[in-house]
Amino acid sequence: MKIPARLQVLCDDGLIDEVIGQLMSGKEAQVYMVRCGEVLRCAKVYKEADKRSFRQATQYREGRKFRNSRSERAAGKRSRFGQQELEQAWLNAEVEALKRLGRAGVRVPATHGFVDGVLLMDMVCDAEGDPAPRLNDVSVSPEEARLYHAQMMTEVVKMLCAGLVHGDLSEFNVLMSARGPVIIDLPQAVSASGNNQAASLLLRDVENMTRYFGRFAPELRSTQYGPEIWHLYEKGVLKPDTVLSGRFEGRLDNADVSEVLRVIEDARAEYEREQARRQAALDDA
Ligand SMILES: Nc1ncnc2c1ncn2[C@@H]1O[C@H](COP(=O)(O)OP(=O)(O)O)[C@@H](O)[C@H]1O
Ligand SMILES: [Mg+2]
Repeated sequence: MKIPARLQVLCDDGLIDEVIGQLMSGKEAQVYMVRCGEVLRCAKVYKEADKRSFRQATQYREGRKFRNSRSERAAGKRSRFGQQELEQAWLNAEVEALKRLGRAGVRVPATHGFVDGVLLMDMVCDAEGDPAPRLNDVSVSPEEARLYHAQMMTEVVKMLCAGLVHGDLSEFNVLMSARGPVIIDLPQAVSASGNNQAASLLLRDVENMTRYFGRFAPELRSTQYGPEIWHLYEKGVLKPDTVLSGRFEGRLDNADVSEVLRVIEDARAEYEREQARRQAALDDA
C-alpha cells in the first residue's frame, strides 16, 4: 500500500521495509501491519491529542513520572510547554508499560522501538500466522473460558506485582494468539501504588474479564477475584505465583465501594456505547 505519511520516517530510516496494510482502527490509534526484514510487525500510530476519545482523563495520569521536575510543574499548568510535556508523557507510557511488563513475564507483544510517535511491536498471530482476533471476535467453550479466565487472572496479578494496572482491560484489548491470550493497548496503564484510582481500575479490569468469560461459563460470575487480588496486594503478600481462590469475604480498606460501583457502571455504559457504535458501523457497511 502507499506509505502513510506518519510511517515515512521509519521507512526512510530502514526500520520498516514495507507497509502491508491497515489493521482495525481503534479509538486512539491506527495500527498497520508492516514487514521488517523477514518478520511481520505492527506499527501503532497514535491519533493527535484532539482526535482521541476518553482515556487521557486525569484519572489515569496521577502518579505518572515526568522527565524532570520542570516538566512536571509545566504539565500542571495549561501552558503550551505543559501540554506538550503531558502529550509526551502519554505517548511514552505505552512503550514503557510494554517493556516493564515484558520483563515481568506478562504476555504482551515485545516492542522494537518508539520513533516519532509510532510504536513498533511484534504482531500477535493466530495459528495461520494472520493477525490474531480480539477476544470479542472468538467464541470459546466453557472449559476454554475457565482456562483463559484463570490465565488472565494470573496476568493481572503479574502486572500488579510489576506495579501496574492496565486500566482498560476488556475483550477488545486481549488478542487470542495461537499460544493463548495476549494483552495489548496500554497507554492508559496506571501506577498501582501512585494512583488513587488504581483499586477501582483493577476491580473494573477484572470485572470486565469475568463478565466476558462468564457469558461462556456462568459460574465465573459469582467469583471475587478482583477484591481478593487487591486485598493481597495491599497486605504486601501478592506474588506473581500466588494461588487465588476467587473468594473474598472481608471489606477492602482503601477502596471506596460506591466509587468502585460507579466506575463499574461507567465501564458498562461505555461498553454498551462501544457495542452500539460498532453495530452502527457494521450497519453502514
Ligand atoms: N501487536 C498487535 N498484534 C496484532 N494486532 C494488533 C496489535 N496491536 C494492535 N492490534 C490490532 O489493532 C487494534 C487497535 O489497537 P489498540 O492497541 O487496541 O489501539 P486502540 O487504542 O486504538 O484501541 C487492536 O484491536 C488489534 O486488532
Ligand atoms: Mg484497543
